[in-house]
Amino acid sequence: MQKLLIIDSCMREESRTRIILDAAKEVLASRYDIETIDVNALALPPVTPGFLKDRTGGRVPEEIVSIARKIASADRIVIAAPFWDMSFPAVLKAFIENMSLYNVTFTDDGTTCTGLCKCTKLLYITTRGMDIPTGDVRDQGSSYLKALSSLWGLGEVTTVAAWNLDYMSADKVEEKLEETATLARKLAQDF
Ligand SMILES: Cc1cc2nc3c(=O)[nH]c(=O)nc-3n(C[C@H](O)[C@H](O)[C@H](O)COP(=O)(O)O)c2cc1C
Repeated sequence: MQKLLIIDSCMREESRTRIILDAAKEVLASRYDIETIDVNALALPPVTPGFLKDRTGGRVPEEIVSIARKIASADRIVIAAPFWDMSFPAVLKAFIENMSLYNVTFTDDGTTCTGLCKCTKLLYITTRGMDIPTGDVRDQGSSYLKALSSLWGLGEVTTVAAWNLDYMSADKVEEKLEETATLARKLAQDF
């Protein structure tokens, strides 16, 4: 079975983003061997000068290398995170910083950086409070993950999102989430 890695950065018990993630997971579970990384449980700190010095000198904690290897060897990746401050929570950015390991997730060919990841499709699941459609200049989540895909070599990035949720009636929110969960299930069939 192919390997699928879920990078779960949902932030609230009642997370609406996780409702969409769970819908996609339902479908994906029949075709993939799924492993989930709980970004909040891991809570990696951002890369600081001392850590960078060690890392540049080749000293990286084995736990971090081993997670980066899981990313590099996954056939598919799903990232789920709420839309915060026009992109995603800093804990996820810190996680990505830690995983950006030379000769594990990326390398260089003498002229530029190239990806080392096996993944050919990345699914990004999010919900936004404001009326910000995917691809809008204010959506710095999907644009960032597309850029990351070009660095690590993660392949095609598909975003499944529901937006304007903080400015809808409770009924409308429920309807929108069901509609987006249905889309996530549909996309998961060909993922
Ligand atoms: C700390 C924080 C920052 C947020 N920043 C934004 C933002 O910049 N733009 C936006 O559209 N919504 C923002 N929101 C609203 C969330 O994106 C929205 O409520 C989303 O559905 C939350 O996802 P969740 O239910 O999975 O936690 C923010 C919410 C929080 C708690």
